[in-house]
Amino acid sequence: MSRPIPPAAEADFLPARRACLAALPLLLAGCAAGPGAQPSAAPAPAPAPAGRPDLAAYPPLPAGPDTGPGSGAAPAVFQQVLGLGRGINFGNIFDAPTEGAWGLKADEAYIKLVGEGGFTRSVRLPVRWSNHASADAAARIDPAFFARVEQTVDRLLARGASVLLNIHHYRQFDGDPLDPGEFAVDPAVVDLRFLAMWQQIAERFANRGPALMFEVYNEPHGRLEPLWNDLLSRALRVIRQRNPERVVVVGPTEWNSANALPRLVLPPDRFVALTVHHYEPFEFTHQGAAWVQPVKPLGANCCSTEQQALMLRLLDLAAADAQRRQRPMLVGEFGAYSKAPLAGRVSYLRFMRNAMEARQMPWMYWELASGFGVYDPMAQRMRPDLFEALYGR
Ligand code: BGC
Repeated sequence: MSRPIPPAAEADFLPARRACLAALPLLLAGCAAGPGAQPSAAPAPAPAPAGRPDLAAYPPLPAGPDTGPGSGAAPAVFQQVLGLGRGINFGNIFDAPTEGAWGLKADEAYIKLVGEGGFTRSVRLPVRWSNHASADAAARIDPAFFARVEQTVDRLLARGASVLLNIHHYRQFDGDPLDPGEFAVDPAVVDLRFLAMWQQIAERFANRGPALMFEVYNEPHGRLEPLWNDLLSRALRVIRQRNPERVVVVGPTEWNSANALPRLVLPPDRFVALTVHHYEPFEFTHQGAAWVQPVKPLGANCCSTEQQALMLRLLDLAAADAQRRQRPMLVGEFGAYSKAPLAGRVSYLRFMRNAMEARQMPWMYWELASGFGVYDPMAQRMRPDLFEALYGR
């Protein structure tokens, strides 16, 4: 399926959830709401794939208990992740097929909003490396693109911001259709490329301080459901070769839904933190979003008692999992699209913020200056109601 690149004002574009959503209604219960999907009957944990000789160059970390004595995150990880506080996603910039394709670039005007003297010191930087890497197993990252991302990371770090850098939207990895402007690779090298990209990223940023954190992959789903635990362990091993104590954030499948946390198996690595995404009530947050098929009708509001209960239930699931594993939990994405009524968006944001903070969960709003944007790039100022609900007193 192809679709036009969205114009700047519509630039939030999530074909990731599209494939699942297009298969309505059967798939609806299992994956419709992406991060906030209703739980299906508790599935048995997927067995690790029986050997991946193709991935022999990237062995997984040795398995070990994920809970119990000696497990859980190191104190420094709690300190760094909880210290993220109220953050922002620099979305629709490097996660577009190419920088600028979705209407935004990593302009100095945006970078100046964060860090020292800015409205937040915490930035999540989503990057679609796969579209800037060679199509073979080596996935050599284009030097100009690499330098551009590196320069952006360094500009943010120089301002005193913490940066959470990830791999975002590698469509074939999830088994999704490609976006316009993307190229296909041989299916035999899809997973190898993921690991080879991490090899390069981890090497390139190895000498940065602890304010730089990594996130293994955004919203794994679809094809990755039975593969994720194995692949994340291999990726972590690659990362750890040069970044032994860097905070690495890992989320579950089903688009990082809290419902999928029971299926997430973490290697015994004390510098790993957890993340979930939370877009419930989805009918409200994604109304009118063209990348969700069928498009959800406009007019849904937020937040009824029932909606609040749903929002809290997912946060409570996430909090309980974090407690069980003794690891900090970051809400890496939540937000409501511009087509939702403004008053409802404000209620939603304040309710989410209070609920996350009551559970000691730092968060990153999706996103800065596009269709969910807290910042209006035309007027060059924050949208006051959204800003106040998120970052105000
Ligand atoms: C995707 C974005 C999308 C957002 C809201 C994110 O995970 O990366 O493209 O706009 O979710 O649907």
